[in-house]
Amino acid sequence: MSSPLNTEHFWMPFSANRQYKTKPRLMVAAAGMHYTTDDGRQILDGTAGLWCVNAGHGHPHIVKAIQTQAARMDFAPTFQMGHPLAFEAASKLVSIAPEGLNRVFFCNDGSEGVDTALKMALAYHRVRGDGMRHRLIGRERGYHGVGFGGISVGGIAGNRKHFGPALPAVDHLRHPLNIAKNAFSRGIPEHGAEMADELEQRLLALHDPSTVAAVIVEPLQGSTGVILPPKGYLQKIRAICDKYGILLIFDEVITGFGRLGTPFAADYFGVIPDMIVCAKGLTNAAVPMGAVIVKQAVHDAFMDAAPENTIEFFHGYTYSAHPLACAAAIATIDVYKEEKLFGRAATNASYFEQAAHSLQGLPYVKDIRNLGLVCGIELESIPGKPGARAFDVFLKCFWEKGVLIRTTGDIIALSPPLIIDQTQMDELFGAIASILKAQ
Ligand SMILES: Cc1ncc(COP(=O)(O)O)c(C=O)c1O
Repeated sequence: MSSPLNTEHFWMPFSANRQYKTKPRLMVAAAGMHYTTDDGRQILDGTAGLWCVNAGHGHPHIVKAIQTQAARMDFAPTFQMGHPLAFEAASKLVSIAPEGLNRVFFCNDGSEGVDTALKMALAYHRVRGDGMRHRLIGRERGYHGVGFGGISVGGIAGNRKHFGPALPAVDHLRHPLNIAKNAFSRGIPEHGAEMADELEQRLLALHDPSTVAAVIVEPLQGSTGVILPPKGYLQKIRAICDKYGILLIFDEVITGFGRLGTPFAADYFGVIPDMIVCAKGLTNAAVPMGAVIVKQAVHDAFMDAAPENTIEFFHGYTYSAHPLACAAAIATIDVYKEEKLFGRAATNASYFEQAAHSLQGLPYVKDIRNLGLVCGIELESIPGKPGARAFDVFLKCFWEKGVLIRTTGDIIALSPPLIIDQTQMDELFGAIASILKAQ
């Protein structure tokens, strides 16, 4: 018999370590829509891992590509050197990016992607001789990873409060969640586009547009509980940025790669930013990778400004365009295209919406928000115990129903792999419904 697992040395990220270690939840294998636990149970994946396994687990084409590349060449530097897969992966990503976004900077995850995009935005203005633009604008309840740049423009107190003053010149828009007016909206909420006006009327009026380098938003705020942009909101943000020469960055770390039924949320909303940050679904999470996709004009400003034969952008990671990650990205995008997974998500979105909203009226359900294959179910908190009610549902789903969900505060967030079928959607929402009914 194998000895019991020693759990003391691994300091787990974003986890209640002491609580977890009293009764570990362990996955040991994964295929398609399911995990297998250490005690041999099948768990339906309602969260695509962490919003990342969009093509389903263990896709053979992606597995093969990584195995082949690992055997052929483990690593090659991309500082003053290169390997063909780096260039191929960039072209492949551009082939599904919105029109006009055609230059790609690789990194290793979403947090690095965000910090890369922020640095690029600041440097872009500077290389054009407009270095007064040093201010960045994010949004309350925004999540942009855990780098110092990302927590600065992000709007989550818990992620910021322990780490002292981060970036100095940052301000935040308010988030557009308005349950009083938009509760149980199906898809895009009707009310709240005017929240975008505060970019111009409050923040630019206060700081002066000439000091602002970039605005960064998640088109749909995922991690803090599925907050959707009201109808017309993103269009207004785009127009204000255009009016004042401010770069618009979409953080599409979770909305990228078909989550809304289109390659990117930018396509879904018909709003094209100057930069897109992506990660997660880029490699189906099989190898860590992130990327910043930028408009050619942004890239060209760097090329035009630097003297010949000199480095144009002093930034990069040892593992930028790692060969294994590139192999995984190329294979993953091929799978998305060949299996038409974005279209499948679009088709299944209405069934998903129906299934989600069938929970309206169950005990403690305060709001349900959905778009594409994303859904947030907000529950009434237990007085004095924020987050406890949803976490209890999470535990029961895992131990009693064999279903993986995710919670943030008292909001259940669902984002299954795009391959989910209707029976599995019924199982997912049915599990949550039966637990809520028994409350
Ligand atoms: C919108 C957004 N940006 C950035 C990140 C950070 O990505 P990573 O955890 O890969 O650093 C996340 C992670 O969930 C995210 O949802």
